[in-house]
Amino acid sequence: MSWRKHEAISKPIMHSHGLEVPNTSRPRHHTVTVIENRALSRRYYLLALSRPKGLQEPGPGTFVHLVVPDQRRFFLRRPFSIMDCDDKTISLIIVEKGEGTSIMRAMQVGQKIDLIGPLGSAFPTAPDKRVLAIGGGVGLAPLYYYWMRSKPGDYGSFRLLYGARSKEDLFIDNFDWSKQGAKFSSDDGSYGFSGTVVEFAQREIERSPADVIFSCGPNPMLKAAQDFARVNGLQHYVSLENRMACALGACRSCVVLTRANDGVRYRTVCRDGPVFDARVLVWEKLPQA
Ligand SMILES: Cc1cc2nc3c(=O)[nH]c(=O)nc-3n(C[C@H](O)[C@H](O)[C@H](O)COP(=O)(O)OP(=O)(O)OC[C@H]3O[C@@H](n4cnc5c(N)ncnc54)[C@H](O)[C@@H]3O)c2cc1C
Ligand code: FES
Repeated sequence: MSWRKHEAISKPIMHSHGLEVPNTSRPRHHTVTVIENRALSRRYYLLALSRPKGLQEPGPGTFVHLVVPDQRRFFLRRPFSIMDCDDKTISLIIVEKGEGTSIMRAMQVGQKIDLIGPLGSAFPTAPDKRVLAIGGGVGLAPLYYYWMRSKPGDYGSFRLLYGARSKEDLFIDNFDWSKQGAKFSSDDGSYGFSGTVVEFAQREIERSPADVIFSCGPNPMLKAAQDFARVNGLQHYVSLENRMACALGACRSCVVLTRANDGVRYRTVCRDGPVFDARVLVWEKLPQA
């Protein structure tokens, strides 16, 4: 089933009992093969994996949970958003963070890796809406996937703003940017708009309005995006990257505090998210890092 057949945001987006973002229902275990592992910059790399038979069609926002090779040292899997997926390949962009992502950077073409996925919820379709997507760093992944794979009927219009620290991390020459609508910013002013991607978004909506924003990136950026959405009266869908263990909704190590009819309640980022309607999140309780 395509993710597009799920609920769209022109329909009610938040019922009294919860959220209406499309969710993956049948995640599975797969052994996949490394097809490509290529440096994009000093910190980022592209990891392309073989698409296993029977993989549920992943929506933009869903993620895979990977075993780091050398499982004796790495008991916990690592979660990564799907940046692209076609008949043969699942692509991820990964930033080297700690030991796990450093070891994965050295994986060889042909090496096998254990994957569970796709997991979690996707950004919704938005017929007739003017979408402004704001990605920071590896937060580009689900938004790029949305931008590349969605069809014009999935939204009214779509603009993608991608921001990074500097030009080196913008992957200008590494990805296909030929589709209309992508723009760039760099914190140090080395390429595109000079400043944060949320400051860039403010300038963009002064030039041309939007109805809804999609955001993904580090938490301080997401909080700035939420302030931006609130001040400008925009709907906001956000993808969170909380620390995870099982990614199956069992251990509850990834919970966030959300609003509910009768007060507040914890929801899991791995199963209820990672994409949330920003109105349900208790933003003050979101971790800084
Ligand atoms: C839904 C989701 C999507 C993500 N998508 C991407 C992506 O597309 N590209 C990318 O580079 N990174 C992504 N991340 C973050 C990525 O999972 C962490 O950077 C990675 O797990 C760090 O592993 P490490 O061993 O290198 O770091 P360490 O810091 O050594 O990891 C130690 C432990 O903390 C966990 N951890 C550390 N940082 C994070 C984090 N930010 N989020 C979740 N768990 C963390 C690890 O899983 C591990 O269990 C995503 C996280 C989530 C939850
Ligand atoms: S990671 Fe275990 S419940 Fe989310």
